[in-house]
Amino acid sequence: MIYLNGEFMLLSEAKVSVMDRGFLFGDGVYEVIPVYSRRPFRLAEHLRRLGASLAGIRLANPHGEAEWTALIERLVDQAESSDQQVYLQVTRGADGKRNHAFPRVIRPTVFAMSEPLLPPPPEQRTQGIAAVSAADNRWLRCDLKAVSLLANCLLRQGAVEAGCAETVLFRDGFLTEGAASNIFVVQDGLLLAPQKNHLMLPGITYDVILELAAGHGLEYRVRDVLEQEVRRASELWMTSSTKEVLPIVSLDQRPIGDGKPGPVFEEMYGWYQEFKQSVMHRG
Ligand code: PDD
Repeated sequence: MIYLNGEFMLLSEAKVSVMDRGFLFGDGVYEVIPVYSRRPFRLAEHLRRLGASLAGIRLANPHGEAEWTALIERLVDQAESSDQQVYLQVTRGADGKRNHAFPRVIRPTVFAMSEPLLPPPPEQRTQGIAAVSAADNRWLRCDLKAVSLLANCLLRQGAVEAGCAETVLFRDGFLTEGAASNIFVVQDGLLLAPQKNHLMLPGITYDVILELAAGHGLEYRVRDVLEQEVRRASELWMTSSTKEVLPIVSLDQRPIGDGKPGPVFEEMYGWYQEFKQSVMHRG
């Protein structure tokens, strides 16, 4: 079952107009929320970011927090697997004609579904992943989780065609993020995270990582990170809601550190799993 505009229905029955602005212009925003043991992880934070993305594209939030929560709970309850990823999407809806400017009356298209959450293959964690780099050629509002992801798709495809799992993005000599993840650097024992601004998505997992670092006394800095610092890092990580945290062990075919997942990653991975378990079992 999926949710579309107030109704629950089979995916095969769900239909959206070809005049939908999400389809014509990529005019909409989305969220991806991990669910562990049928409990949405950091739900309030994801809904807050959805609100910020909607405000950023000047589209009214169609639901309050309680409504979103009830809708998500219903999707989660009726799904088969207990670990899931919930996808939410709101577009500016359909108009009678194709026109860049907003319709006078806006009827948003609200779509939500739950899919099984498949953890990354264990060897990605134990052996690490390879990444390529690319110039970040996206627009200047990467802080909005917009469905217009053409640049991200092209950038991620570049990784896949090079036999890699992610593309690390640099803009004007600085690290921004990955094609679909945030990126962290470890310099000797020090964790570095680029500061949130309009050039990167404020990741929910990113926040978890920094909280865990603070809670466990791992020294970290949030500041601009130079491309050279990434290339010379002792460790490089990618984070996202669906991949949690993974070690990047090569960039553009050159090893990062000694080309193996590093000790700081191993610690952070452990803290992350422990934290997840504690949250999920809190009741
Ligand atoms: N993407 N940056 C970009 C460009 C992303 O697309 C994502 C996640 C992140 C990480 O954010 P978070 O930790 O809140 O998941 C950073 C999701 C998973 C996706 O598009 O499927």
